[in-house]
Amino acid sequence: MNYHRFDCIIVGSGGAGLMAALEASKLAGTAVVSKLYPTRSHTGAAQGGIAAALANLEDDTWENHAYDTIKGGDFLVDQTAAEVLCREAVECIYDLEHMGLPFDRTPDGRISQRRFGGHTKPNPVYDPAAPAGTEAAKPRIPVKRACHSADRTGHMILQTLYQQCIKQGVTFFDEFHMLDLIMVEGECRGIVAIEIATSELHVFHAKSVLLATGGFGRMFKVSSNAFALTGDGPAIAYRHGIPLEDMEFYQFHPTGIYRLGILLSEACRGDGGVMFNGEGERFMEKYAPNLKDLASRDVCSRSIYQEVRAGRGVGGKDYVYLDIRAETINKYKTSPTGEPVDSAWVSKRLPDIIDFARTYLGVDPIHEPMPIQPTAHYAMGGLPTDVHGRVLRDESGAFIAGLYSAGESACVSVHGANRLGTNSLVDLVVFGRRTGREMARFALDRPFQSLPPKPEAYVKAEIEAVLARPRVEPWVKIRDEMQRTMMDECGVFRTADTLTKARDVLVDLQNRYRSTGVQDKGTVFNTGLLEVLELGCLLDLAQATVASALARKESRGAHSREDFPTRDDSQFFRHTFIFKDGEYPGRIGYKDVDVILRQVDGRMEPKYPLEIRKY
Ligand code: FUM
Repeated sequence: MNYHRFDCIIVGSGGAGLMAALEASKLAGTAVVSKLYPTRSHTGAAQGGIAAALANLEDDTWENHAYDTIKGGDFLVDQTAAEVLCREAVECIYDLEHMGLPFDRTPDGRISQRRFGGHTKPNPVYDPAAPAGTEAAKPRIPVKRACHSADRTGHMILQTLYQQCIKQGVTFFDEFHMLDLIMVEGECRGIVAIEIATSELHVFHAKSVLLATGGFGRMFKVSSNAFALTGDGPAIAYRHGIPLEDMEFYQFHPTGIYRLGILLSEACRGDGGVMFNGEGERFMEKYAPNLKDLASRDVCSRSIYQEVRAGRGVGGKDYVYLDIRAETINKYKTSPTGEPVDSAWVSKRLPDIIDFARTYLGVDPIHEPMPIQPTAHYAMGGLPTDVHGRVLRDESGAFIAGLYSAGESACVSVHGANRLGTNSLVDLVVFGRRTGREMARFALDRPFQSLPPKPEAYVKAEIEAVLARPRVEPWVKIRDEMQRTMMDECGVFRTADTLTKARDVLVDLQNRYRSTGVQDKGTVFNTGLLEVLELGCLLDLAQATVASALARKESRGAHSREDFPTRDDSQFFRHTFIFKDGEYPGRIGYKDVDVILRQVDGRMEPKYPLEIRKY
C-alpha cells in the first residue's frame, strides 16, 4: 500500500484549495491532492470579477457589500459570515495583487472595478416621493465593485495562487482522485485516493483534511460546470453520515450559451449588455424596474423562463438574446459611465466572451446578439461549516474534528438562497485563507492519531465490484436520464409534482446504477471507472437536492416552488440539514439563520431586517 503522511491534506486545487494550501503550508506540512492538474481546476472558468468594496471608482463600503449579499441571498445568509466575507474581501484583493495577480487598471493605476448583478449602494438623490421611473425614485443604484482581469479573472487567480504554492514548496499529488475519507470515532484522519495513471490506491494519513472539491453542476443537463464537477467531497462525506446544508438552493446563471450552457459572463450586462426576447423587448424592465438586467441571477433566470413560457422566446423557441453590441449599449445608455462606447472597447473588456460566441455559436457578438438560456452554475448548498471552515456534525453546531471544507463544496453560509455574481471568487479566497490557518493550527496542536487496519479496504472492494459487474446498460444512459430529470423537474421552477417525479426517477436510477459496470477493465487511466464512481456521487447529491426541495414549502431565492410562490419566514427562515442515515431521503433537520442584532434606542433590533426583495 502507498502510504503518505502530512499534517494537512487539501483535496481539490481550485481557488479555495490553493489559498488554504498557501496559508496552511506556512505553519504545517501540507499536500494538495487533486483529480485535475491544478491549473485546470474550475476556478479558472470564473470570468467577470471578484467582489470587494475597494471604492476605487466610486464610493462604496464593505457594509454596502454585506447588505447586498444578505438581500441577494433572500435573507437566508448567515450574517456574521457575510460580514466576514465582505470585510476581509478588501484585504484579500490586495494580497492577491501583491502576489502578482494582473488586475485591469484604472487610468491612474488603481485596480479597475465593474458592475455586477445585485451589487448596489444607496442612491444619494433618492426621494421616496419622486415619480416612479425617475432616477430619484430608485432607493439603490448599481456600484462598480467587481475587480477584474478582462473576463478571465478566475483564470488569473488560479495561475497566481498555483505559482505561489509552487514557490512556497507545497507538495502536489496531481491526478489523484479521492475516493474515501478515513473516519475513526467521529474524527477525520485522512483520505484514500486512486492514482489515475495506474489505478494504485494511496492512503493519506493526516491531522486535518480540507474538502475543497468544488460544485456538482454536472447533475443538470445544461450546465456551465466542467465535467469534473461531480461533488466528490460532499457526496463522500454525506455517505459517512455528515449532513449537507441548503441543498435545495441551486443557482442557474441567466446567460449560458444556448443548449451548451457555457458561461457568458454577467460582466456582459455589467458593462452594458442587454437581454431581449423574441419580440425585441428589453423584458427585464418588467421584472426588475430598477436594476433591470443587473437584477440578481435568480430573478433574471426566472424572467427568461417566464418569457419563454409566454411564447416570447426567439422564434417561439426556448432562448432569448444577450446583446453586447456597442450600438445597443449606446442606444440604451447602459455603458458603465453612461458615455458612448465602441466595438474596440467591448472587445477589450470581453475578449473571451467574444471568442466563445464565435467558436461555439458561430455568432459574432460585435455584430449580432447571442442566443442564451439559464445554465446550472453554482451550488449554494454543501457541507455546513463555520467561518473557520470547520465542518459541522449536525444542527447543534458541534464540529467534526479534523474535517474542513471551503469554496463551493462548503456552505458557510454566505450565499443563502441565491449567490451574487463575483461572490464565489471572494468566498474562495476569504474562507480558503481562514480555513488554511485553522487546519494548520489544529494540526500543530495534536499528534497523528492511529489509522484502522486497511483503511483502503472499502474502496478496493467497491472498485472490484464495479469492474466485476457486467455492463447491463451503459452508465452514460443513467447519467443522461439524471441530468434531464434534474433539469426538467428540479430546475428553475419546481412543484411537489415535479419533485416527486424526480424523486421516483432517482430511486430507479440508483437501482440501475448498482447493477451496471464498465467496459474498460484496465488499470491505466481508467476514466470510465472514475466516471462511474463520480456518477454515484452525483446521484446521491441529486437525491439530497430533491428531498431538501420537497421539504421546503416556500419560494426563496433560487428555490421557486410554483405551488408555494411566496417566501414564508414564519416556517422557513432557517437552513435545511439533510442526513443520509437510514432509508432515503434520510433525516431532515433545520438550523436557525444567524442574525446580527444591534442596539437602537435601547432596544435590540436586527441589523439587516427582513424585507421583500425587489430589484
Ligand atoms: O458571470 C460571471 O462572470 C460569473 C461569475 C460568478 O459566478 O461569480
